[in-house]
Amino acid sequence: MKIGKGRKKMRNKQRKSSALGSDAGCGSSLSCIVWSLVGFGLVCFIFLKHQADSGQTHVYFSPLHATRELEDIEEDHFRLPPPHKVNPRAVKRRGPRKQPKVIDDYLEESSAVHALFFPDQMTAVDPTKGGNDSMYFYPGRVWLDTDGNTIQAHGGGIMYDHKTARFYWYGENKDGPTYQARPKGTQRVDIIGVSCYSSKDLWSWTHEGIVLRGEPSNVIHDLYKSKVLERPKVIYNDRTEKYIMWMHIDDANYTKASVGVAVSSSPTGPFTYLYSFRPHGCESRDMTVFKDDDGMAYLFYSSRDNTELHVSPLTEDYLQITAAMKRILIRRHREAPAVFKHQGTYYMITSGCSGWAPNRALAHAAESIMGPWETLGNPCVGGNRFYRLTTFLSQSTFVLPLPGLSGAFIFMADRWSPSNLRDSRYVWLPLFVGGLADEPLDYSFGFPLWSRVSIYWHKKWRLPEDWKIANTANT
Ligand code: GAL
Repeated sequence: MKIGKGRKKMRNKQRKSSALGSDAGCGSSLSCIVWSLVGFGLVCFIFLKHQADSGQTHVYFSPLHATRELEDIEEDHFRLPPPHKVNPRAVKRRGPRKQPKVIDDYLEESSAVHALFFPDQMTAVDPTKGGNDSMYFYPGRVWLDTDGNTIQAHGGGIMYDHKTARFYWYGENKDGPTYQARPKGTQRVDIIGVSCYSSKDLWSWTHEGIVLRGEPSNVIHDLYKSKVLERPKVIYNDRTEKYIMWMHIDDANYTKASVGVAVSSSPTGPFTYLYSFRPHGCESRDMTVFKDDDGMAYLFYSSRDNTELHVSPLTEDYLQITAAMKRILIRRHREAPAVFKHQGTYYMITSGCSGWAPNRALAHAAESIMGPWETLGNPCVGGNRFYRLTTFLSQSTFVLPLPGLSGAFIFMADRWSPSNLRDSRYVWLPLFVGGLADEPLDYSFGFPLWSRVSIYWHKKWRLPEDWKIANTANT
């Protein structure tokens, strides 16, 4: 017992002395600590001064603190209205259902399920009104521009322009009547053109006009109104100082399956339409372009009947593709690609192929942009099961990095309303890369190779209040 007590005392003594130093060395350790603190302060001062002088990004807050609220897992419980009664004769005519009944109902504008996810104009997000709702994103609500008109920028993407220190949002203007070109054809709207909106805060958007117009009379033109222009994306070429738009060009039956290219010397256009072609002689439907931090840009497109994606570097002027091409996600049937990068790793969100109907998103990752690409799983977090299996009732279109918030992005998606496409909504949600993947890959011996990609459901959310400061300092 005595020996035991003695040992305990010894251990406590050792613990104390190791924490504060031995009696003999106490004075010198204290001065050591003081000098270390002074040194650390000095280094911090020099670092901050250097950053201020060189005009680099100033982040005045810890990203973790600023984004914690956005990463909270928010559940959403809603009661789905009873299903529409199905006419047995209609079942006979249309054959058995391919998707859950609730999705059929959801797609029908007159149904109660539809009304639940397409709230009316009364709840519109309106930047012309001040008040408590200012700066809040409400996924699925009508979103107005600074003139009070509904934003028309579907299947779109955002480019940050350093020259004008503004974000530009480009997307399909679908503000026309929805119709079916053929009895079994997909619902469509004639080509009106590509709309452009500008913003400094990502919430209040000013309409800059239709920057690439549909062609009203020349029937053989790619942009003739009865054809298809979808998913426009714009990137800036630093060498040529031109803004280059890539888009999906098709005929009403989706058999042309090509990419189109347009160019402008200003982010607000007008863009001059150049041509369309089938990349590498292959079908190209849903697509995107991604500009890497080394100035190289890449085209991603769904090909071979949407069974796989192809990735190809663009030429230096971004106006053509190069001969190099890799087939990725073969036999996975993915579309609506949205590509982004974090800490040297490439990520992509895709949807399944179910036309305007929502389905489950998948996140993918790659060390090299040309592949191989691995599938990480469904990135949707929170909400409820119905939401997670339908990407919050939407389809990916773009992922925007948030300057100044490392690992934080905005996931941009479309909530399509196929029976009235002009009323399709936008679902923007915070996306984070970080933490461990929840399912390590088979060959990784239990060590997850990739960070988790998470898209967090929020009924209502806003960017961290200090974000604007970081962003403004960045521009
Ligand atoms: C989706 C595609 C949309 C549009 C739609 C037409 O699969 O992502 O961009 O083409 O089909 O049905």
